[in-house]
Amino acid sequence: MPRLVERLGEVARGGSYILGPEVSAFEREFADYLGVRHCVGVGNGTDAITIGLRALGVEAGDEVVCPSFTFYATVEATVNAGATPVFCDVAPDTFCVTPEAVKGAITPRTRAIVPVHLFGNVAPVPELRELGLPVLEDSAQAAGATLDGVRAGALGHAATFSFFPSKNLPCLGDGGAIVTDDDDVARRARRLRFHGSDDKTTFVEVGYNSRLDELQAAALRILLPELDRWNDSRRRAAAAYERAGLGEHAALPTPVEGADPVHHLYVVRHEQAERLRAALEARGIGARGYYRVPAHRQPATARFAPPGLELPGTDEAARTHLALPMGTELSEHAVREVVRACAAA
Ligand SMILES: Cc1ncc(COP(=O)(O)O)c(C=O)c1O
Repeated sequence: MPRLVERLGEVARGGSYILGPEVSAFEREFADYLGVRHCVGVGNGTDAITIGLRALGVEAGDEVVCPSFTFYATVEATVNAGATPVFCDVAPDTFCVTPEAVKGAITPRTRAIVPVHLFGNVAPVPELRELGLPVLEDSAQAAGATLDGVRAGALGHAATFSFFPSKNLPCLGDGGAIVTDDDDVARRARRLRFHGSDDKTTFVEVGYNSRLDELQAAALRILLPELDRWNDSRRRAAAAYERAGLGEHAALPTPVEGADPVHHLYVVRHEQAERLRAALEARGIGARGYYRVPAHRQPATARFAPPGLELPGTDEAARTHLALPMGTELSEHAVREVVRACAAA
């Protein structure tokens, strides 16, 4: 932390605050970490999805297949790109979309697929790519996770990240990025983040004012080298939950086949999730159901759900999921306390 504060002081004194050397260096370092050619820093993970979809060629009136069981921003960003979100189901055990569910949601108007690596799991992107449409991974919750050894973010045609302070790779405010191997997608994303201009003089399309700033990039450059170590701590905490017998009291997180999740949140399933939450709370343990009302039932986005839409996996996940304490500093002792409290409940 002292190094972080010192570095932020240097950048603050340096006088360059927007799209300067820190952003360029972080973009290079994060792209190298993921194993992709390009990273484009933007203002937040929501803008990253909107810009990423437009950079992939999504236009007004196009359909984009995305899960309803996600943080609402995935869907909001799709609408803000001018597209119509088409909700598809998730597997209630992995909380991720399946190739079958996505396939069933594709129509002749579908222009892209946005799988979400929810809670730090990794959606089956290679199989989604076989469906023949551009895939934009929403990797906001999965920095450092892998699928068959490939990092989340390097699996699709492009991917987006959020560096919101609670994320596995955090900055000190809002921040996000689009990553891709595709030169044209990267170029278009760079243009869109700066008002649709390549040269700050001619404005060729209506874009956004959405940049990662120099102070956030400087913080991210200090924190990125810690990411793998932090993720290993989270994995150790997950293993400790299993060792302590949590599986006897709730359904444990299920990795997608080949995935090495990073447990952004440690989410179990329980038939009476809210009762369990209240019992844990009574013992001073914070637990939370994050997405009890999925996007296809939210007031702002329910209109995109066709009448009679059935998403049984989504409804089950929404009803049964419960995030238990998780973090880089979670001790074995704390884990055992949580499991004891689950047993008592
Ligand atoms: C799955 C998912 N998508 C998108 C976002 C949006 O990111 P941000 O808050 O940086 O806009 C978040 C996080 O907040 C998220 O968890």
